[in-house]
Amino acid sequence: MSVTVVDHPLARDLLAQLRDERTPPPRFRTLTRRLGWLLVIEATRDLATERVEVTTPLETTEQERLAEELVAVPVLRAGLGLLEAVTDLFPDTVVGHLGMERDEITLQPRDYYAKLPPMEGRRALVLDPMLATGGSGTAAVTQIKGAANPKSISFVCVVAAPEGIERLETEHPDVPIVTAAVDRELNGVGFILPGLGDFGDRLHGTA
Ligand code: PRP
Ligand code: URA
Repeated sequence: MSVTVVDHPLARDLLAQLRDERTPPPRFRTLTRRLGWLLVIEATRDLATERVEVTTPLETTEQERLAEELVAVPVLRAGLGLLEAVTDLFPDTVVGHLGMERDEITLQPRDYYAKLPPMEGRRALVLDPMLATGGSGTAAVTQIKGAANPKSISFVCVVAAPEGIERLETEHPDVPIVTAAVDRELNGVGFILPGLGDFGDRLHGTA
């Protein structure tokens, strides 16, 4: 099991702007997509490639092409903010959807929608910007494992709390986590500190 924090000045800059309470939804969406590119590049660093012959205008040379495809699974609603980062970089990506809503009092996730494609031979990227208690992320991975058989699963988020990392790590030790930050802790109502607030509301303008 591994946690990778994308350590790049651009990632830190984008995250600082996302955290800023003054950032309005249109800018929040753009920033999420741009940060998503960096996260997705890291989450796909070890994708399989195959050697192919390419003829340039000057000679024939041995090069590498991708030999592994992706399934992106955004966890609704907030995960939709990261989806275009995946399809920008990997246009052949197949997309599944999982609807999860965390109960405000119990903090338990309730799954309300699932549409998962076949995943054989593909890497599944679970997209959920906030890993707080880890309930939603863990349930999403459990649902994917129950419904499909991807070659591997990676979890891509923007901010992770230590509590969420521990939960996902315990229940799915085979799933690496890629994040832009590991924050300090959860507050009494399950929000990440310092965090950035309710990601789904800020992304969709529903706050
Ligand atoms: C948020 C977030 C995660 C979840 C994280 O979704 O997008 O899915 O909370 O919390 P957890 O780790 O404690 O489960 P939310 O339930 O607010 O739904 P939304 O994306 O529709 O806003
Ligand atoms: N979900 C969010 O959107 N933000 C948090 O801080 C925790 C869960």
